[in-house]
Amino acid sequence: MTWGPAHIIANWKMHGTMQTCQRLVFDLLEQIEAKNLRDDLSSHLKIHLCPSFPYLPLVKHMTMGHPLHLGAQDMHYEEQGPFTGAVGPYMLKDVGCDLVILGHSERRAHFRESPTDIGQKVAKAAEKGLTPVLCVGEDQAAYAAKKTFSTVLEQIRETLARVPQSTKLLIAYEPIWAIGAGKTPAATEVNQLFEDLGREKLIQKYYVTFLYGGSVNGKNVGSFLTQPYINGVLVGGVSLQSAGFTDLLETASQVVRRPKGTWSK
Ligand code: PGA
Repeated sequence: MTWGPAHIIANWKMHGTMQTCQRLVFDLLEQIEAKNLRDDLSSHLKIHLCPSFPYLPLVKHMTMGHPLHLGAQDMHYEEQGPFTGAVGPYMLKDVGCDLVILGHSERRAHFRESPTDIGQKVAKAAEKGLTPVLCVGEDQAAYAAKKTFSTVLEQIRETLARVPQSTKLLIAYEPIWAIGAGKTPAATEVNQLFEDLGREKLIQKYYVTFLYGGSVNGKNVGSFLTQPYINGVLVGGVSLQSAGFTDLLETASQVVRRPKGTWSK
């Protein structure tokens, strides 16, 4: 198992216009320069901005030469063809993406994505050289019943059934009850979950890096990233505010300068 820099993934969801996206990136770049963060960010963090499909080329264009990479929020599992309204892996690569968020709980809920669909997407993304970010997470009832581990492991099992062994992927644990809710599980709880998942034979067949997502902000990001098994965060709301997101990046780059945990196989 190898560890790279911590991942910070900005999920802009279905927000913004051409103008507001441009403003957001402009302000972000300006604050990174003003705070002299460019070198720290590129050596300690791997930051991906994930705007809606129409704004991908704009964000790519604006971030060239800066320590900000491009990701998408979904993709189809077919390479191309008669799939009206869909966007395939070649298109994402063509506009400069190197990562794609898959199976977000909002897609599972609103677009009825099944574990089979999501597994096919993960496999295709990896095959085409896009880093897949598989999102998993339990609802409030499962959390209250202390069924987080079994729920998340089952979600991963169902999804990876379609994914070849040794695939490299990021798994983002995003409790549904924490997303956009201003509350989070304790960082130690998340760390324990990842440590336990990492001991599972199923997980050990893949190259997995674990991320946490759900109400991450500049104040709590340090508590997550200082845990040995949490190797990044997926950020929604705060990533749409340039000042708040810059603070988060600054804290993250300061706290990740330490060795991370690893599992014995
Ligand atoms: P949030 O969203 O940071 O606004 O809670 C996270 C996500 O849904 O990825």
